[in-house]
Amino acid sequence: SAAEKGGYDYFMLKEIAEQPKAVADTLLGRIDASGSLTLDEVRIPVSVLREVDKVVIVACGTAYHAGMIAKLAIEHWTRIPCETELASEFRYRDPILDQRTLVVAISQSGETMDTLMALRHAREQGARVLAICNTNGSTIPRESDAVLYTHAGPEVAVASTKAFLTQLVACYLVALYLGQVRGTKWGDEIEAVIRELSDIAAAVDTVLETMEPVRELARSLADKDTVLFLGRHVGYPVALEGALKLKELAYMHAEGFAAGELKHGPIALIEKDLPVVVVVPSPRGRSVLHDKIVSNIQEIRARGARTIVIAEEGDEAVVPYADHLIRIPVTPTLLQPLVATVPLQVFACELATARGNEVDQPRNLAKSVTVE
Ligand code: G6P
Repeated sequence: SAAEKGGYDYFMLKEIAEQPKAVADTLLGRIDASGSLTLDEVRIPVSVLREVDKVVIVACGTAYHAGMIAKLAIEHWTRIPCETELASEFRYRDPILDQRTLVVAISQSGETMDTLMALRHAREQGARVLAICNTNGSTIPRESDAVLYTHAGPEVAVASTKAFLTQLVACYLVALYLGQVRGTKWGDEIEAVIRELSDIAAAVDTVLETMEPVRELARSLADKDTVLFLGRHVGYPVALEGALKLKELAYMHAEGFAAGELKHGPIALIEKDLPVVVVVPSPRGRSVLHDKIVSNIQEIRARGARTIVIAEEGDEAVVPYADHLIRIPVTPTLLQPLVATVPLQVFACELATARGNEVDQPRNLAKSVTVE
């Protein structure tokens, strides 16, 4: 009913708008007064976490994209090797797992069969399983050694939005916590990022307040057949997520590429007026990647692409090559997906509406896939 949708036309719009609160709720009570993480609820003893020598993340769909970003955060802040794998592929390749492997299963519903089978397989091999889940008491957390709940609240729209942002928050918490309990050379950075996490809900809010031009842009592209998405580092999974949202909601051909791969194939797809969304890394920090992406934008624009550039506030280098510029707040590099994904959600939702599609219940899809 309209009341359930809180005055919005679709649950998806409501859930997009709820993201600042969902992010804040997922952080609540997990950072103490001294700025350290308190994740006692993760019932895996610190002594065990200190012995972990490999992390494997399994998930499907949007949760898999959160897992791809988690891999970068975990390897950076803990120096533990980490791989992220589609849950549906995982157990069929006879993965190498033992007591020192930490498997992280990410699932909004907690009922996805592929993810459940992956975690069962991992436990049979002696690995510990930590679930990141949004649904209290669902099967995946029940069958795991421990759970870190995301506090997104119920997500009704089939296409995941607020659950994704809270999965990211939970993944950062796990990565930072592992770094904290094991001690790494990044101690100062870990402390700084924990502080920055406290401001991230406000940053998401800022993005939401500036979405009208994105909606306008989406409506202008309603007749297109294809949209491409490019990104690097954490921007690559964001590009994949942007493309997934567009497939799910707008039924358009959409693909995400790692921008460095452009020259190895995808650039052949570039033609006049093709919309290409580019997620630009911060010019600070990893500025090498920033410069490389700016060259990519120049290359595709020279071939006629219509460039839709998502770039940090104050990044002036992209301005000459952006047909459409979407600004996002300055964040630490690894946290950028929390703000960069939001315009892509709004973009897909508006395109779906403009194309006359059912936003909350896309054709052929289910909110939770309980068959393999
Ligand atoms: C389905 C949904 C996706 C979701 C995926 C994983 O395919 O349509 O939106 O990302 O399942 O769901 P889970 O509940 O495990 O996060």
